Amino acid sequence: MNASVSDFLETGDILIIPLFQDTEKAPNNTTIGLSRSASITLKSAISSDSFDGKEGETISIWTKECQIILLGMGTNNSLTTKKSRDIGAKCFSNLSGNKGKDIVIRFTTRWNTENMASFAEGMILRDYTFDKYQKKIDEEKHDGEWTIVCQTTKRHRKNLDLEIKKLSSIATGVHLARDLGNEPANRLYPEEFARRAEDWAKEKENVEVEVWDFSRLKEEGMNALIEVGKGSIHKPCMVFFRLNPDLDTGIQVPCIVGKGITFDSGGISIKGSAGMDEMKLDMHGSATVFGLFQALYATGYQGRVNGIACMAENMPSAEAYRPGDVIDTYSGKTIEVLNTDAEGRNVLADGLWKASELNPSYIIDLATLTGSIVIALGHEATGLFTNDDILSERIKRAGEEVDEICWPMPLLPAFEKQMTSSKIADVRNQGKGRWGGAIQAAGFLKQFVQERENNEGEKSQIPWAHLDIAGTAGIWGGESNATVGHGATGIQVRTLHRLITKK
Ligand code: BES
Ligand code: MN
Ligand code: ZN
Repeated sequence: MNASVSDFLETGDILIIPLFQDTEKAPNNTTIGLSRSASITLKSAISSDSFDGKEGETISIWTKECQIILLGMGTNNSLTTKKSRDIGAKCFSNLSGNKGKDIVIRFTTRWNTENMASFAEGMILRDYTFDKYQKKIDEEKHDGEWTIVCQTTKRHRKNLDLEIKKLSSIATGVHLARDLGNEPANRLYPEEFARRAEDWAKEKENVEVEVWDFSRLKEEGMNALIEVGKGSIHKPCMVFFRLNPDLDTGIQVPCIVGKGITFDSGGISIKGSAGMDEMKLDMHGSATVFGLFQALYATGYQGRVNGIACMAENMPSAEAYRPGDVIDTYSGKTIEVLNTDAEGRNVLADGLWKASELNPSYIIDLATLTGSIVIALGHEATGLFTNDDILSERIKRAGEEVDEICWPMPLLPAFEKQMTSSKIADVRNQGKGRWGGAIQAAGFLKQFVQERENNEGEKSQIPWAHLDIAGTAGIWGGESNATVGHGATGIQVRTLHRLITKK
């Protein structure tokens, strides 16, 4: 979608006029560019009793020149970025495009730049479909791209234009993450993810992608990742993303780690069939990492950042790892595998230890890790676990600012103890019962974050946060993310972009 900003001029094919509650007559600039008769119709619709701008109200008026949509935004002082974004997204999802794809949004009065930008962002984010495998799709559906022109008064134009350019660039990362998440597991397996990452890095001067293939993983001792992936014909790999590798070399920078299970069958501890197809999305953590690097690249971020994607397919086979196995990890610690379906934490064990070796300012991992977090938070929020209060606060705030909620969850010591009480290994990959499953998983991960000395010579763990995105990574008929129609959401690309780029 091409988005731009202009003065009140043309009307486009579709003229959207969002209005606040109690707008009694058409504000200045409402009817510019319309014929006399269309202007009269529009003005009388706005002053009529059937439209008063309540939230969610819509009226469509068909004129010779264009379709006009009046949108109720509710009261001006109750409008938030979230509301504005969601209304923009919903409005876009109802457009057909049959009569043209040039949209004009006319922000007449009482708008601030932030809310206008969010409205446009809602449309941009929602302009996404994953229909590459629908061979018989309508020709006209592909007939050209949508464009939006945001019309506003002069004093807002420059800032709005800058903001929309930035948001559009970030959206390319969100859409990339969705593409990866939606791709079926027969088409996107670990080596294919790696190939796409390498392809993406080509001809970009300030990015680097390095892939550790199966034999390299063996050489390096990345055994947990190997164990999870060895049951599949598609072998595991680790993908390193580096943005601006030559800058900031003297300082500590963030490292973002993603769980990349391209399909989670459960392995020998096989899952039930219902909904198993959704487990193609079990690599959304790695999709978010990739999408984040695209967003940072596209917005021209001038700092160094590291990313690690832990890629494997979890399959049952004669060569698969089994319940009861004790496996080595990159850290040197051993894991007693009680359930092969608790595979995400195993691959992250190696990813987190590797991330620690990079001596980062902080580590954030993203993972569709537990069904338990979906029980706790539904699809409304990502679970946020961390060993560092400052990092926690920063992530929470960044999430709030872009309306992707990260809800703090406790790292209770009792659960950590469950995970470290194996009778035959250093850690076990399953807790002692169902309760607190998401916290058990987080307690397990914590074992693989290294300690280091601070300036006072005291040892403490590297600041680390774990985002359990199992409930927020995908939409299968739910309504909790208005910017997505179906499938992968691209969750937390915007949050992490905000967190990393904020001064
Ligand atoms: N990928 C799943 C978690 C998941 C569940 C993601 C639902 C998205 C939606 C994960 O690998 C898993 O299977 N977790 C198990 C862990 C258990 C075996 C200890 C779970 O949560 O049930
Ligand atoms: Mn699993
Ligand atoms: Zn999984």
